[in-house]
Amino acid sequence: MVSKYLILVIIFLTQLISIGVNASSSSDNIKGGDSSSKTASQKPTKTSWWPFRKSQLDNKQQFTQSKIEIDKNAKEPKNILVGSFVGGLSHLRPSLEICKILIERGYKVSESYSQMYRNVALVAPGNFTSHANYPSIKQYSTGPEHNTKELSSIYQPIFEKPYDYNSFFLEKDEADNQYLERYEIYKQSTIDFKPDLLLCDLLNNEACFDVAWKFKIPSVGISSSLSRRTFAPYKSDPIYGCHSNMENESFIERFKCLIIRPARFLYESRQRIISLNEKRVSVGVSPISSSLERIKNSLFLADTFFGFEIPHPVPPLYQEIGPVMQDSYPPITPEISSFLSSHKRIMYVSFGTQVYTTPENYAILLQSILEAIDRNIIDGIIWSLSGLEDFPSTISSSDETQLDTSEILHNLYTHIYVTNSSSGLAPQVSILEHANTRVFLTHGGVSSCHESLYTGTPMLILPFAFDQFSNAEKLEEQGIALKLDKKNLIMDDIVRKIEFLQLDARVKVNLKRMQVLAKINSKRKYRAADLVEFVMKASQLNPKKFKYDDDDGNEIVKESVDKNVPNNDEGKKSTEKESNNENSGETSYETVYNSSPPEQPIIEDIYEWLLKEWITPDTRMGFIRGKYLDVYGTVLTLLLSLILIAVWACWSVVSFIVNSVASLIEGKLKAD
Ligand SMILES: *[C@@H]1O[C@H](CO)[C@@H](O)[C@H](O)[C@H]1NC(C)=O
Ligand SMILES: *[C@@H]1O[C@H](CO)[C@@H](O)[C@H](O)[C@H]1NC(C)=O
Ligand SMILES: *[C@@H]1O[C@H](CO)[C@@H](O)[C@H](O)[C@H]1NC(C)=O
Repeated sequence: MVSKYLILVIIFLTQLISIGVNASSSSDNIKGGDSSSKTASQKPTKTSWWPFRKSQLDNKQQFTQSKIEIDKNAKEPKNILVGSFVGGLSHLRPSLEICKILIERGYKVSESYSQMYRNVALVAPGNFTSHANYPSIKQYSTGPEHNTKELSSIYQPIFEKPYDYNSFFLEKDEADNQYLERYEIYKQSTIDFKPDLLLCDLLNNEACFDVAWKFKIPSVGISSSLSRRTFAPYKSDPIYGCHSNMENESFIERFKCLIIRPARFLYESRQRIISLNEKRVSVGVSPISSSLERIKNSLFLADTFFGFEIPHPVPPLYQEIGPVMQDSYPPITPEISSFLSSHKRIMYVSFGTQVYTTPENYAILLQSILEAIDRNIIDGIIWSLSGLEDFPSTISSSDETQLDTSEILHNLYTHIYVTNSSSGLAPQVSILEHANTRVFLTHGGVSSCHESLYTGTPMLILPFAFDQFSNAEKLEEQGIALKLDKKNLIMDDIVRKIEFLQLDARVKVNLKRMQVLAKINSKRKYRAADLVEFVMKASQLNPKKFKYDDDDGNEIVKESVDKNVPNNDEGKKSTEKESNNENSGETSYETVYNSSPPEQPIIEDIYEWLLKEWITPDTRMGFIRGKYLDVYGTVLTLLLSLILIAVWACWSVVSFIVNSVASLIEGKLKAD
């Protein structure tokens, strides 16, 4: 009897737990769900979306008389500063595309509504001022273009050795060495350009976020992946020597990839954060304890999409906006066009503008190409050279004859067309789009992958570094790509894979699916522009104002645009000088409070206010409460004690019965 009750109680408890789990997952659904649904609109999280949605509506209904408050001040010009450490089109394209939309919106909205226009400037290496796609962009250059060939002491080992987190830190250390230089450039351009928002590429770009923090300007982070910012235990990274998807891995592997290797990575990162903090302090930026601390509550845009990423829950502050594609791409040149139409099964080869490999690997690649043409698996090659390649002068073909590579590179072979970097980048998207392009041999950079998916071209991926390994893995898992190993290139393997990608029926179906996904999601750059706009508009409502000082100490006040917020300039301000250490005067600025009492400490994190609608409560609840470990822990303890009591009770009952039976039998025996 007792045990029956116990079982009932246990069943009841497990029900409770499952209800709890369901409830939490259904509230997740509501977050992502449609705002028109009834249940959703009852939730507080939904109502916080309302002003934003309304402002979007108002954008369309330009002539409605009653506009909501945040749209009333749209006449002010807005400045956006885009910052990237690496620069180059692949890192800047998403940011610049978003800015382009914002610029166009600013000019296009009707005059009676607003004359808002936006200026965009860029902090990046190289020279973008004359870029055909983005003509109206001013640039504060951080130096010459990032050239991996000139920095070969760093990049040659990265590209040629197996890529792991030591290679990652090689690049990171070089970037950290330039921190102060970069910080200075960001600071000067901020004082000069007076941005309302900083759009910072995430990679090695701490200076950008730090300047935004220092001047209390909102920043928005942007990156090509969600990987290091969102957590799911089944997600890992080839950088740890793990698979990006741990779904089918053994316990040992999962343990290593979740705990041991990331712990070593974090330990190494920690050393770097400490030394970077010393530099931060020297320019009056407060130190941080983890790489995400400064940006944890800011908006983060990821140029990626599910299908490409391993599915996992994403908090509201992180928004997928990819694949960001341009509206138009350069057309194919007449020479390429005639090559494309005179060959039916073409493989396009490009390893981007940054990576290169060893002469031995180039030789194997060339041999494989010749072999594939020989076996009539493909009948043409277009190879877009970056100018970083070191080809061997001769290669031996399969019948042992020596071939002169310079003849191939000068287009003396009818089946091979080489485009030369000195005549500009090859029109990659137009080539991929062509029906006769059947396979894309790529390094697996994000832009190339997106372009290939968008045009529905299967990929043979030869990853060299960075995120290319995880891209290759994810796309292979999707059944639209195969990967090669840079440490173990084998001609027969390459040829076989080129053939497989063209013939396999599943590859074709999977490609179609991914193409649809990529095309639909490529519209989200407009959503990204909406989000950036929201952050700018919300920051107008910020009760705090900020001022810029130029180097002579003259204040350049960036007026608070919002004249409609009550009590804005009405005497009850109190000013507070930031403690301004070593560089005093030079970086000094004032923070003006209107609403918070003077004795309150400066709110270090402007985002706690700025994006409060999107910050999930768990981030404020602390680790144990936020993850509900206290509640689950109690349930677990209760369950365990119930089980213990049950075991004890059973034991007592059994021993009682045994004892009484024994004494009965004993009594009987005695009676006998
Ligand atoms: C970039 O190029 C433009 C025109 O080609 C030139 O006027 C400008 O000075 C260059 N900027 C930098 C930073 O090199
Ligand atoms: C893991 O195994 C399941 C079942 O065999 C399969 O459906 C899934 O695709 C596999 N996942 C990976 C990442 O290989
Ligand atoms: C690229 O073109 C330039 C001039 O047009 C030429 O000098 C150079 O040899 C070419 N490079 C290759 C690899 O074909």
